Amino acid sequence: MATISQIDPDFTALPAVSQDVFTAPLKRPPHVGEDWLEPAQRDYSADEDTIWDDLFARQLDLLPGRACTAFLAGLDKLDLGRGGVPEFGRLSDELGAMTGWSVVPVPMLIPDHVFFWHLANRRFPAGNFIRTRETFDYIQEPDVFHDVFGHVPLLTDPVFAEYMQEYGKAGWKAMRYNRLKALGALYWYTVEFGLIQETDGLRIFGAGILSGPREAVFALEGQSPNRIMLNVDRVMRTDYVIDDLQPTYFVIESFADLYHQTVDRDFDRLYRSLDPGFTYANSAVIDVDDVLHLGTQEYHLRGGRGSGATPT
Ligand SMILES: [Fe+2]
Repeated sequence: MATISQIDPDFTALPAVSQDVFTAPLKRPPHVGEDWLEPAQRDYSADEDTIWDDLFARQLDLLPGRACTAFLAGLDKLDLGRGGVPEFGRLSDELGAMTGWSVVPVPMLIPDHVFFWHLANRRFPAGNFIRTRETFDYIQEPDVFHDVFGHVPLLTDPVFAEYMQEYGKAGWKAMRYNRLKALGALYWYTVEFGLIQETDGLRIFGAGILSGPREAVFALEGQSPNRIMLNVDRVMRTDYVIDDLQPTYFVIESFADLYHQTVDRDFDRLYRSLDPGFTYANSAVIDVDDVLHLGTQEYHLRGGRGSGATPT
């Protein structure tokens, strides 16, 4: 197996990660191999298919006028509302014909270097389970609804599809510099929680917002959070919240702008200049920021989710 410093230029081989690179400690279940792929997509019960349908219907009440145009077009193109959890083989055939991507089942969150390797090969890893009725409103572990409903529609957009593959390739470089946390912050504030400027106003493209019921209104219309134009150098230095609504959302002009700010630039100098930890708090507004909305932070100042504070 190649090591990170001897990367296969075609990204066909999965590299090993040396112990001095920071990665989340995850224990690989015995039934999956080094690629963490499940042997097959699981068979969902009728009840589980109904959970998908109910989640889908709830989001469709919320998202027109809030989700970005490319996401809503992707939902249509892939017909993700045809009923029940989508079958990955058929979904991959349809998506593959559009942008060359496929969707592959994984048991849980997978290690960064394996995730990057799949993205670099245009494979999107999706959770091989769905939340229960008890966790219908909120689940921290990404399930098939988050992964497929939230992420896959945008993979029908050629520019975004290209960006995601390049992001996977960029992961190798971040590992070489031991700056995975910085690259993770970029992913968090774009692919998971990003906003985009469209002609009719701000819209959502982040899967973490699109796949849940609470954050779509808060992110776009709430007085509490900051909304700031994306600056990659700044975002890669910024801490984030994994278990509550975000104190700050970052806004891109277009997917071409996101591609330009990241792929079209050499990250070596940036990685060399980054500290290992984060510099800015997740609610910080700093002098270089192009601020669209200066948030009150009222929701988080009241204690956020744990306090029962209403998102405003
Ligand atoms: Fe996600």
